[in-house]
Amino acid sequence: MHVLHDVEAFRNACSEARRAGHRVALVPTMGALHEGHLTLAREARRHAAFVACTVFVNPTQFGPNEDFARYPRDLEGDARKLASVGVDLLLAPPVEVMYPSGEQTRVRVGSLAEPLCGAFRPGHFEGVATIVTKLFALTGPCLAVFGRKDYQQLQVIRRLVRDLLLPVEILGVPTVREPDGLAMSSRNLYLQPDERQQALGLIRGLRAADSLFRQGERRAGVLRAAALAPVEEATPWIDYVSVADPDTLSIWADEVSVGERVLVAIAARVGNTRLIDNAVLGEDTLPLP
Ligand code: PAJ
Repeated sequence: MHVLHDVEAFRNACSEARRAGHRVALVPTMGALHEGHLTLAREARRHAAFVACTVFVNPTQFGPNEDFARYPRDLEGDARKLASVGVDLLLAPPVEVMYPSGEQTRVRVGSLAEPLCGAFRPGHFEGVATIVTKLFALTGPCLAVFGRKDYQQLQVIRRLVRDLLLPVEILGVPTVREPDGLAMSSRNLYLQPDERQQALGLIRGLRAADSLFRQGERRAGVLRAAALAPVEEATPWIDYVSVADPDTLSIWADEVSVGERVLVAIAARVGNTRLIDNAVLGEDTLPLP
């Protein structure tokens, strides 16, 4: 695997791969890689002969009081892991190249970016949409692979590709979980042992809603209350427990009867760590407890 810091060398390597007749896959990450990220890379490998991965902790998607400075960084470890799953190329660009001095351009997606995390992290999806657009511009025509763990992010990126006519195909990959159900996340590294236990409130909430849904419950308010209870038991710091349309992300009012697919999305803090999880009931399979 080649490790590059230079974006023009990266652009050339991707073009070269396409010229050689290979399909190019891109897996954007912020590093501190875990099995979830590696699953995306393996999935990319299944679909493309040339797999490029990026590691870049993107400052514009962090709020002023968020964890940009302390976000875990381990480029050497990341490179080893990516090489072991057959990634061809790793780009780890400097901040001042991705954001040249005097830069003043942002990509903003509309209503998909407003509810859920958009309401609690102002500017977050604008930062994500901007960096992802830049990475697509560097990579060129490709298959780009993202996790359903960040479900709203995936929908925002699908929309920007469509709206900006980018030559990129998007592949969404199911959430990879620890054996006890906790969704893998680089931020899980922050959790103290007692917080690691509290963090299970999120998957318990999803399972509770899923179990009612399977029994035929379709009232949004009842599904939401079921998801909320285990989260409330685990932590008082809840950003949201929402029941929403999986395509538009618009939040269902309690009295609505949901259809055969419904998004349950949760964001909550345990200690100082903000965690998110989600499931599309009727579509995703949650692991048994
Ligand atoms: P990061 O949090 O590092 O995640 C990189 C990719 O891995 C995203 O597509 C994310 O959805 C996916 N991922 C993370 N945990 C996962 C899990 N448990 N199962 C499946 N996929 C998982 O998301 C970002 O970085 C950034 O916002 C980025 C898109 C790179 C833009 O900066």
